[in-house]
Amino acid sequence: MGSIFVTRAIPEQGIALLKSKGHAVTVSEKDGVLTKEELIGHIREKGYDAVLCLLTDTIDDAVLEAAGPQCKIFANYAVGFDNIDREAAKKRGVTITNTPGVLTETVAEHTFALMLAIAHRIAEGDVYTKAGKYKGWAPMLLLGTDVSGKTLGIIGLGRIGMLVARHAVKGFGMNVLYHDQKPSPDFEKEYGARFCDRETLLRESDFISLHVPLTPDTRHLIGEEQLKMMKKSAYLVNTSRGPVVDEQALVTALREGWIKGAALDVFEHEPELAPGLSELSNVILTPHIASGTEETRAKMAECAATNIIAVLEGKTPPNAVI
Ligand code: GLV
Ligand code: GLV
Repeated sequence: MGSIFVTRAIPEQGIALLKSKGHAVTVSEKDGVLTKEELIGHIREKGYDAVLCLLTDTIDDAVLEAAGPQCKIFANYAVGFDNIDREAAKKRGVTITNTPGVLTETVAEHTFALMLAIAHRIAEGDVYTKAGKYKGWAPMLLLGTDVSGKTLGIIGLGRIGMLVARHAVKGFGMNVLYHDQKPSPDFEKEYGARFCDRETLLRESDFISLHVPLTPDTRHLIGEEQLKMMKKSAYLVNTSRGPVVDEQALVTALREGWIKGAALDVFEHEPELAPGLSELSNVILTPHIASGTEETRAKMAECAATNIIAVLEGKTPPNAVI
């Protein structure tokens, strides 16, 4: 039976699943992210067969080296795996897995929640009302923007982007533009969506939602130049990875009215925010919780555990990314 290190407490379902197969599980007792030194210290000292890690853990060659040849898999508790040096893992013959599929619905819901919230000024209205400022109905009070019938531009048509498009078309009668590495004719037929280059999408969309992984190609995909191409009335939603947006340029855009608003679940230098971001009223911020429902976090824990169990049994894991 194998020994497994879990870098931080996760929902019990995943731990229980590992234990049910007879594996010995050690969960970090620190209530926080392990520093690199702490992580290396833990895994070097004991020697584990598998590590269940989080998107807040940087898994580079030094960490893989500390884990040693005994360690066969790092199972990331996330769909994104930009925190892991895949080249280094490949060289060392370590399997890397993620948790796709199980969080698609939840992240798409959160994306829509953000889009509706920024358009309908939900957060501003909440603060206003709780502060006792509401003195009666008024024709011009906190006027928002309709989502229905507008054009949504989706950058990155993976599972999540596709489901966001479905909600947009079926639920809100929106028109969908999308950009990805290649067009998806079946998707276009089903949702009346149109494939276009990034510039056209930026210029024509009323709402833009980002669903790309973070790679060298997608870092600062949205910067000053792109924000200036967007309509002044447009909104940007980001539930993918913070560095896809140049956050300082976004602060300037929001402050100077290049675009109307933004709703962000992820940040360029988490957990830090770009200076000025939190002082703006035309932005809604959530703390990287787009996949954070009880149901989905439990499924992510089970998914990561399933990948580890497969590898320790000498089988191909369902979600290998290398
Ligand atoms: C969350 O951000 C994830 O990648 O699962
Ligand atoms: C993630 O699951 C995606 O493919 O969008």
